Amino acid sequence: MNPLFRTGISLALTLGIVGGFIAQTVAQSNKIQGLVSDKAMVVSAREEASQIGIEIIRQGGNAFDAMMATEMALAVSFPFAGNLGGGGFMVYRMADGRIGSLDYREKAPLAASKDMYLDEEGNVIPRLSTQGALASGVPGTLAGIFEAQAKFGKLKPKQVLQPVIDLARNGFVVTKNQAERLRINRQLFVQVNGPNTFFGKEIKAGELIQNPALANTLERIAKKGRNEFYKGETAKVMVNHLQKIGGIITMADLAQYKAVWRDPIVFPYRNLKIISMAPPSSGGVTLGQILKMLEPYPLRQLGHHSPEYIQVLVEAERRAYADRNYYLGDPDFVQIPVNQLLDSAYLKSRMSDFSFEKASKSADIGKGDIQFSESMETTHYSIVDAEGNAVSVTTTLNGGYGSKVFVEELGFFMNNEMDDFSAKPGIPNMFGLIGAEANSIAPGKRMLSSMTPTIVEKEGKLAMVVGTPGGSTIITAVLQTILNVTEFDMGMQEAVNAPRFHHQWLPDLVNFEPKAFGADLVAQLKSKGYLINEGNSPIIGKVDAIRVLPNGKLEGGADPRGDDKAIGF
Ligand code: DON
Repeated sequence: MNPLFRTGISLALTLGIVGGFIAQTVAQSNKIQGLVSDKAMVVSAREEASQIGIEIIRQGGNAFDAMMATEMALAVSFPFAGNLGGGGFMVYRMADGRIGSLDYREKAPLAASKDMYLDEEGNVIPRLSTQGALASGVPGTLAGIFEAQAKFGKLKPKQVLQPVIDLARNGFVVTKNQAERLRINRQLFVQVNGPNTFFGKEIKAGELIQNPALANTLERIAKKGRNEFYKGETAKVMVNHLQKIGGIITMADLAQYKAVWRDPIVFPYRNLKIISMAPPSSGGVTLGQILKMLEPYPLRQLGHHSPEYIQVLVEAERRAYADRNYYLGDPDFVQIPVNQLLDSAYLKSRMSDFSFEKASKSADIGKGDIQFSESMETTHYSIVDAEGNAVSVTTTLNGGYGSKVFVEELGFFMNNEMDDFSAKPGIPNMFGLIGAEANSIAPGKRMLSSMTPTIVEKEGKLAMVVGTPGGSTIITAVLQTILNVTEFDMGMQEAVNAPRFHHQWLPDLVNFEPKAFGADLVAQLKSKGYLINEGNSPIIGKVDAIRVLPNGKLEGGADPRGDDKAIGF
């Protein structure tokens, strides 16, 4: 299939398209305000998860306790992306200004190899890295939430997990969007897991899903801790199940898995300090490159969504993604020239061949020349607790319901994160991203991500917590949300609702969200040589964010593109 088209489809599938609301959003855009609360807020993809997160804060927990609760509540009520069988990234800022980040990304199994998805002629075997047992990396989610909660949390994991166990046992109500996504995937669930699989039956909107197997898994984890998942009965059942269906993850893979604290990527943008995720996510570096390439331009004067504004963003994105795809990978395996990539002079030179007269061509752009010594379903939630600590988390199985492999006895799906590696240089993955050697497969290596959990500071104070799913579009969706607030004075909800566009170097196409950008604008951009994706154009991101208002209150931005919800007090 044409990779351009494939990108559109996979994004549509991974985000779960909800068409038609964007135009509506534009018309209302001046009056939009999200939920405002005094002290604490959780914004996530599901009301149940936001509710449980905020309940934990009410019980005296902090943002890290709420992280554990929200993440697991998403695993129960949003199995599309919420997970035990996946991984994620967390960026935090404590009330006193200390910052940090945690990498709980999946890793390639020890038995993985560089060419494991290629046939004898060296061609990529379709679906091997996206569907079924071989698609999964070693999951990191449980290691991540336990690591964060043990270091900073205040409550006992058992207390934090109890409402989640209850949710899994008592059930949650299926939304319309959810029923539709389950319907679309049902055949695949059956194909991968057999006719009696848990999600193989027809499930209608309004029905209750109870998942006793997951409740039991969570109960064991609550009692025994993270090692239950990595060394205990849960580990054994998972490994047996995967090996029976051709997987290669072993007990040794699970036993060795560790979440890693990493220094976040921190850089100034005008009067803001941006704190975002470091490699193995490309999020922070690529967001930083784009913002710093944009900084010399008077974005506010160009005007929101003017052709010139779109041009300059597209051109910065084009150049940043070219660097991303060449230079970035797992920092434990490859040397990444982070400082050079974020150097102002380098980024200025990257934009020196851009002119407002005419589109650059991705074929002419390539990676930047840097000298250094050699030696895509997801979900995001944002939390601010009553003490002022902030947590920004993006977590994923990669595609919707991951590899579609459902471990029936344990009640959860396994990820298909191996597709985020570059299976073969120059061949696009499910998000149309093209990779290079830095992101090739190796045993124990983490696959490059685009997840961009981000925290923004202004004048030394917390200003925004932001992030989104959306595969390769994550970075540009976070970028536009920040710009909407800081350059165009939008409120949080308004900034989240505003239509978005996206460019990722290759394919050399500008994607606009459906029904949200005028024909005149598109015509003007075309006349300058921009290639516009006019076919299958998906929604771009599903942002869940919190902004601190000048009076210190919190405004939530829960994306209406999904069932997302802000809850606070
Ligand atoms: O880590 C990444 O960049 C991808 N696995 C994210 C996948 C994603 O956002 C899918 N959701 N739309």
